[in-house]
Amino acid sequence: MNEIDTVLGIETSCDETGVALYSGSRGLLAHALHSQVALHADYGGVVPELASRDHVRKLAPLIRSVLAEAGLEGGDIHGVAYTAGPGLVGALLTGAAVARSLAWSWQVPAVAIHHMEGHLLAPMLEEAPPSFPFVALLVSGGHTLLVQVEGVGRYRLLGESLDDAAGEAFDKTAKLLGLGYPGGPALAALAEKGDPGRFRFPRPMTDRPGLDFSFSGLKTFTLTTWQQASKGLSGGELEKLRADIARAFEDAVVDTLVIKCRRAVRESGTGTLVLAGGVAANRRLRRQMDVMMRGEGGQTFYPRLEFCTDNGAMIAFAGWERLKAGERVGLAFNARPRWSLMELLPPGR
Ligand code: KG4
Ligand code: ZN
Repeated sequence: MNEIDTVLGIETSCDETGVALYSGSRGLLAHALHSQVALHADYGGVVPELASRDHVRKLAPLIRSVLAEAGLEGGDIHGVAYTAGPGLVGALLTGAAVARSLAWSWQVPAVAIHHMEGHLLAPMLEEAPPSFPFVALLVSGGHTLLVQVEGVGRYRLLGESLDDAAGEAFDKTAKLLGLGYPGGPALAALAEKGDPGRFRFPRPMTDRPGLDFSFSGLKTFTLTTWQQASKGLSGGELEKLRADIARAFEDAVVDTLVIKCRRAVRESGTGTLVLAGGVAANRRLRRQMDVMMRGEGGQTFYPRLEFCTDNGAMIAFAGWERLKAGERVGLAFNARPRWSLMELLPPGR
């Protein structure tokens, strides 16, 4: 059997088709991403059946393109990694089927990767990666998790959202302010123009002990503020209000996440914080987390912006970690739309 060096990673859990080649000896060789934003925009959210069909269309061309970019052929690949969950079942099955078939035809092993483990390990692709142990804040469209990380597959849950995920709160709030899908980046851009002093929104669950989060009340608070303050306004005044509310909402989410992370870092005694997942692309969050961790005498690590949101590189990297330790899936594959990160074991176990 070949030693595992070059791994093809495939990500299709939601609305991005991500493909990448990672080499243990040479690093990231190539990556490609197709976003389905335009496909789902008219519907105001992801339409699962359309997502699956688009993954089917885009996977083969993207795989061909990363192989060409890296100057490799199928015979140069030592293993294939795919996102097996959590996510949309049809979308996951598409990636799983393609990945498993390619591994079979190339006669190499395949491995099933947990999407959130991909996010969690994404900062390892950077030039100065964090070292274990660390506290990780995973903030995506579907999850908000605070995790104590001792090594790959050695995770302990410190806190999680009891209702909406942080990204979901951004998306829903953006929608009620009349911004399009996907709302997070649009809301963050609008917040840049907002006045931070006009409104102060609550920082949910920060006044009691514990590391859990709750964001659904904040969304309702935003709606009520918008409805009351927008009465009788139009034109520039309405636009200004929208921006001021976006800023108040973003400040509240960022502050809440920072307060909980400070608490988690103090309790765990580690000086390293990792920030990952789509919301980790939020510039204010990155900045504020840096300031907080410097105050704690520690350091924050996050992926480059494009590897915060869904991508194939993080799956190729997590796949390489697990494949090199001997982990494999059999010829029968499945998708796990619901799958807790805490079920994972260290590679190869
Ligand atoms: O990790 P991701 O690409 O997909 C999931 O695994 O869910 O995260 C997507 C989420 C969306 O909710 C999106 O609105 C949010 O990340 N997001 C942002 C920003 N960029 C993406 N939220 C706030 N500010 C941003 N700059
Ligand atoms: Zn994701």
